[in-house]
Amino acid sequence: MSKNVSLTQYLVEQQREHGRIPAQLRLLIEVVARACKRIAISVNKGALGDVLGSAGTDNVQGEVQKKLDVISNEVLIEANEWGGHLAAMASEEMDSIHVVPNRYPQGEYLLLFDPLDGSSNIDVNVSIGTIFSVLRKVGHSPGVSEADFLQPGRHQAAAGYCVYGPQTTLVLTLGNGVAMFTLDRETGSWLLTQKGVQISPDTQEFAINMSNLRHWAPPVRRYIDECLAGKDGVRGKDFNMRWVASMVADVHRILSRGGIFMYPWDQREPEKPGKLRLMYEANPMAFIVEQAGGIATDGSQRILDIVPTKLHQRVSVLLGSRNEVERVTAYHAPA
Ligand code: AHG
Ligand code: MN
Ligand code: MN
Repeated sequence: MSKNVSLTQYLVEQQREHGRIPAQLRLLIEVVARACKRIAISVNKGALGDVLGSAGTDNVQGEVQKKLDVISNEVLIEANEWGGHLAAMASEEMDSIHVVPNRYPQGEYLLLFDPLDGSSNIDVNVSIGTIFSVLRKVGHSPGVSEADFLQPGRHQAAAGYCVYGPQTTLVLTLGNGVAMFTLDRETGSWLLTQKGVQISPDTQEFAINMSNLRHWAPPVRRYIDECLAGKDGVRGKDFNMRWVASMVADVHRILSRGGIFMYPWDQREPEKPGKLRLMYEANPMAFIVEQAGGIATDGSQRILDIVPTKLHQRVSVLLGSRNEVERVTAYHAPA
């Protein structure tokens, strides 16, 4: 692929030729991409900047916040609140929504994000990322409230993530396929490096935190047992395993070479539907995966059809290569 189509050119083309992207949405994507560039700079500083370690605070879900969780959240808020493209933002790291202050014009979009995904990997120099989801504020009621955010993921206008790894890569869907952009550090530009990304329907690679095996529900246990049995079992082929513990990095690998990713419900905290967050992690990743020809379910239904009841709702996640996700989802069906 020619190395000279920038993110801006790509978005202008989408707007001009496909009429896909209103001006406010285009601005929103550009601003998020710029914020990711700033986060990448902080990530890269590592021990040379004041960015590693704990912030000494807990977030609304009771998780200890790392400095970079807090820094990334602030970067995204500051970058996005003045442009006139947003009505409000919601984040994994904030208790409640952040409404655009009165001194700025209010736009029609709602932005949701996991500012720093893979927090446990920050201090050990393993790939981490930022995940974002864009909804449109529907209805003409004045003001904005949490209820405006509680839309099923299939209504997302855009979704994406940035991986801060050996390369800094931005992955984006506007609902017509998936495009990848690589940050050219010399020029500071995001350059289109892949479009029409497709996840292979079959795979011999799974991603799950195996240390939870004894806590899984029987359908997940059955699926993994069959993978582990390899050539000698019912699957008749050997499987490989990967688990980065940064959803962005695991999903990025799946977009690149296929695979299945699972963070299922388990018995450790039976009242919680899962570990991952529907609005900041599962929905944007499910949208991207479906746009790349894969599927994403919670074991019983399509993630994008779940009607959220709470901003910080959690969900069981099975996503990736179509035939594998269909198989493990079928194992969940009542007999
Ligand atoms: P976050 O850092 O935003 O809290 O998300 C971490 C998530 C996800 O990225 C990853 O797949 C999973 O947690 C890892 O969990 P385990 O440590 O339980 O494997
Ligand atoms: Mn996360
Ligand atoms: Mn996070």
